Amino acid sequence: MLENAAYRHYREKLQSARYFAAPMVKQSDVAFRLLVRRWGAECCYTPMLKSSRFLKGDHLEMTEFATIQQSTADRPLVAQISGRDPVELVAMARLLQELAPGGFDAIDLNFGCPAICAEEGSYGAFLLEGEENIQVACECVRALASSSDAFVPVFCKIRILEDCEATVRLAKRLVEAGCSLLTVHGRVRSARSSGPVNLDTIAAVKAALDIPVVANGGVRSKAEAEDVLQRTGCDGVMVAVALLVNPMLFVQPQETPSLTQAVRIAHEYLTLAEKYPPGRPITIQKHFWYFFRNVLLRSHGRDAKDGDIIGSEVSDRFVMVRGEKVLLCLVGSEQHRFYTFMCQPYLRSPKQFRELLRLMTHALGLGPEAAAADTGPELPSSEEQPVLSLAEIRQLGSSLPPGPLEDEQAEVETQESQALSYDPWAAD
Ligand SMILES: Cc1cc2nc3c(=O)[nH]c(=O)nc-3n(C[C@H](O)[C@H](O)[C@H](O)COP(=O)(O)O)c2cc1C
Repeated sequence: MLENAAYRHYREKLQSARYFAAPMVKQSDVAFRLLVRRWGAECCYTPMLKSSRFLKGDHLEMTEFATIQQSTADRPLVAQISGRDPVELVAMARLLQELAPGGFDAIDLNFGCPAICAEEGSYGAFLLEGEENIQVACECVRALASSSDAFVPVFCKIRILEDCEATVRLAKRLVEAGCSLLTVHGRVRSARSSGPVNLDTIAAVKAALDIPVVANGGVRSKAEAEDVLQRTGCDGVMVAVALLVNPMLFVQPQETPSLTQAVRIAHEYLTLAEKYPPGRPITIQKHFWYFFRNVLLRSHGRDAKDGDIIGSEVSDRFVMVRGEKVLLCLVGSEQHRFYTFMCQPYLRSPKQFRELLRLMTHALGLGPEAAAADTGPELPSSEEQPVLSLAEIRQLGSSLPPGPLEDEQAEVETQESQALSYDPWAAD
């Protein structure tokens, strides 16, 4: 059978990628993308860029778009945009090309966002509801795909609809409009990012289309990624939350990293973040929450020692503390204290996070494997360097420019509820 243009692009530019790192607002920053690429991710997405804000020059929105020019280190890369105005979206695509000429391989239209901002602006998942909206969605795809300004193929990321046949019909219309790779998140809008994933509907979409299809939703391990590929017949599988928790997911057989592995991966991320600083300090902090939530709050972390009660009723019981699910026997423990410290707004620079890792390694008695393989430019790797206390680490932030912006501060405060809605383990 002859290869069509969509598959040719998928082969030539995306190197027939199977393992995709999802677009994630404030989380799929350059450093994180480089990290997961080291560990098996074959194609990455930028965070969603809201076209209307971006085109107005909104600084925070624009900091979400960063690429590495004249290098293939962060490729293949898909730039994700959102909006509902075809003219605006074409202008956005043109602007991205001007900012990063030839710096990405496709533009993805986000038709999956369930957030309030998407509801207010009637974009994201809300564009897939009702015939009128679907027509607008198709017009957006058509405008981008036929615009000589866009230069790159147009991808779409959708959620399934309540009805399988309606989802297949929608997918076909997007392809007719010019979509050349479709990601299908197997949850309806109201399910947001948790709960069961409908693989049958994803499989039905894949079977009906002649473009590459990527399955998304609920994958927590390498084995589950393989299972999804096999059960849906999709060309690729995309992971979000589980990759934030375990950036090594695509190469690591076990589901959850150990505390030692989490510390190492956090060092690795910091080294990349020092080279490619994310636009917002909160990005680093949120990565830390994902890296450490499970290993500090929900497992004993270090290897079992005499006196630890593992597997007993007491140690298996969870309680909620400020919105976080914590093993009862860890409430108020040193592990819990470190996690709480990670959530404080005055933790803002890579140096503070680096020092925190060193202190944790020391205080929790982690072995030499937890030390940074590469400590980056700020810290010499010498063992003699004194370990700072939490108070001293806090103090390191005082010389930084004024604290988090208002929306970021609000986010720190509401992080628990957000984290829960995004955390597939929280419901276990
Ligand atoms: C922190 C976070 C930010 C997200 N931001 C985006 C985004 O910018 N664009 C998008 O299409 N989806 C976004 N999503 C949704 C994910 O891409 C993905 O579709 C969803 O989490 C389901 O995948 P999972 O079950 O592997 O987490 C985000 C998810 C998370 C957890």
